[in-house]
Amino acid sequence: MKKIILDCDPGHDDALALMLALASKNIEVLAVTSSAGNQRPEKTLKNVLKLLTLMKHQEIPVAGGNRKPLLKELMIAENVHGESGLDGAVLPEPDFKPQDVTAIELIANILRGSREKIILVVTGPMTNIALFLSVYPELKGKIERIVFMGGAMGLGNWEPSVEFNIFVDPEAAKIVVNSEIPLTMAPLNVTHKAQILKSEIDNIGKIGNSVADAFAGLLKFFEIYHEDPKWGFVGAPLHDPCTIAWLIAPDMFESRWLNVDVEIAGTLTKGETVVDYYELSGRSPNCDVLLNIDRDRFIKLIMDSLKTFS
Ligand code: RIB
Ligand code: CA
Repeated sequence: MKKIILDCDPGHDDALALMLALASKNIEVLAVTSSAGNQRPEKTLKNVLKLLTLMKHQEIPVAGGNRKPLLKELMIAENVHGESGLDGAVLPEPDFKPQDVTAIELIANILRGSREKIILVVTGPMTNIALFLSVYPELKGKIERIVFMGGAMGLGNWEPSVEFNIFVDPEAAKIVVNSEIPLTMAPLNVTHKAQILKSEIDNIGKIGNSVADAFAGLLKFFEIYHEDPKWGFVGAPLHDPCTIAWLIAPDMFESRWLNVDVEIAGTLTKGETVVDYYELSGRSPNCDVLLNIDRDRFIKLIMDSLKTFS
């Protein structure tokens, strides 16, 4: 059983990552913390509560995190995720409240109370995790690994060579990737291969339970932004679920143990993840970088997971 804390900014693909984790018999979600990224912090927090209400997991503690990045002003992706951050489906109003602590306090409380090490899964900007590591350095040893969606090798989706999660808070990402905690990175290079087709989204709509119905609506909305021919996509790239899919079935992916760092000074490249693919820097590897995915297995995992809900 893998014990995880999910720090996320739902966000359509964050929602899918949460669903995969909740549906898996091999993952225990100890807490969900929200970050500001896809939408403003109050909206991503409410979206976490809505999703856990929808999937009937109100027992999982939730706490809100960063109001803004460490240094930059907050940039959100309303053009991708809509005004609510989860446009495309009518989700139930939350029927429970978040914990009366901050995200980093909740993470600290859980790590202190756990005999085992815990995996942090990060599917939004890394502000909360950077803050946690800075405020509670004594708890670093309780973290088994940080698995994150973010960055890219030579690609970008917000600036030419910068991916959104790292773009929002490059300084936080630099703190996290240099924390000496083992890392797994799901960059755009792999998530752009994890596209779901319109026909597969339609099949989700035929599963016949309230959770699958909601995700069919969410994915139909999420797919619209990715129809722009500039992307060259045949479907919608499912970024964040790649993190949970790797935890469930690492052999679904090809990866390489490489050094990853983050540019924070470049004029054109601030927020670029610099992946030392040919090991030219002399810097020690710190990250399992996911490079390829068995897409058909990935989509089957999503379908099978959605079928587990009533
Ligand atoms: O660049 C994709 C990432 O940015 C995903 O995590 C998506 O949810 C957005 O946060
Ligand atoms: Ca996200």
